[in-house]
Amino acid sequence: MSPIESVGIVGGGLMGSGIAEVSSRAGIPVTLVEISAEAADQAQSRIEGSLRRAEKRGKIEAAEVEDVLARISFTDALEQLAQCDLVVEAASENEQVKLDLFRRIGPMLEKEDAILASNTSSIPIVKLGAVSGRAGRVMGIHFFNPAPVMKLVELIPSLTTSPETKSRVATFVEDQLGKQAIEATDRAGFVVNSLLVPYLLSAIRMYEAGYASAEDIDHGMVLGCGHPMGPLALCDLIGLDTIRAIGASMYDEFKEPLYSPPPLLDRMVEAGLLGKKSAQGFYPYK
Ligand code: NAI
Repeated sequence: MSPIESVGIVGGGLMGSGIAEVSSRAGIPVTLVEISAEAADQAQSRIEGSLRRAEKRGKIEAAEVEDVLARISFTDALEQLAQCDLVVEAASENEQVKLDLFRRIGPMLEKEDAILASNTSSIPIVKLGAVSGRAGRVMGIHFFNPAPVMKLVELIPSLTTSPETKSRVATFVEDQLGKQAIEATDRAGFVVNSLLVPYLLSAIRMYEAGYASAEDIDHGMVLGCGHPMGPLALCDLIGLDTIRAIGASMYDEFKEPLYSPPPLLDRMVEAGLLGKKSAQGFYPYK
């Protein structure tokens, strides 16, 4: 089983830029594809900003920052992925967007054993595999935010993923990237979001109903339960549009009311209040 020697990333937002950084820091050349040249430039700045912050904290040498950046190429042309050993799709959490990407990228990959993965939090992997024309070599690889810092990666083989794909991806994640993997079945939410999302949505409902201020809800969980961050601050960090999309997919699959996005979350997303990435969510950001 050959190691992964080239990685393609589709979508360079919060997650795609983090996964590109992690892969390049592991010494692997990366091609990052965004939807436009402008978005590709933004992804480049995001990665550079993250590396400079790591440098300031003494986590990486200045010379290495340059090497990591030099190993990533940024483009708006999907065809540039043709030679990759592994492509990780990290575009917005929207089923139609992802199905369209898998339909287009699947036949483009020139290597017989190339793997096409999704970082989706809740969209069925089996559906993405079915439209890709290479279902045996499609799988979920779910990183956590921020990807350069968080140790965990969930691996999600679908009903049609081959055992070879699963073990090559596990080796990539654990041995090449140095992350820790857990395996989950192909159900919306996997392990972590199945537990986390109802908790976050409950905090939004609590705030919406006027139980307490955002600060007091967050202080409650930080000081009372030892969480590193309160639920509303965590919603802002993840992105309210992403949380709404994950909750909606989980609700579609299980019809469990706790997964259903509350009206305040809908309104905030409709108003463009997406959290940290839009500079305003439950809290303001610079
Ligand atoms: P984001 O909104 O920060 O970034 C999405 C990026 O995808 C944007 O930059 C957008 O321009 C790009 N994009 C959209 N359509 C595209 C296309 N057709 N081709 C190329 N690029 C395209 O979203 P985020 O948070 O990075 O989420 C991405 C994926 O990662 C989603 O599936 C989400 O569920 C998953 N995820 C998110 C986490 C989080 O904490 N935000 C954690 C783990 C997974």
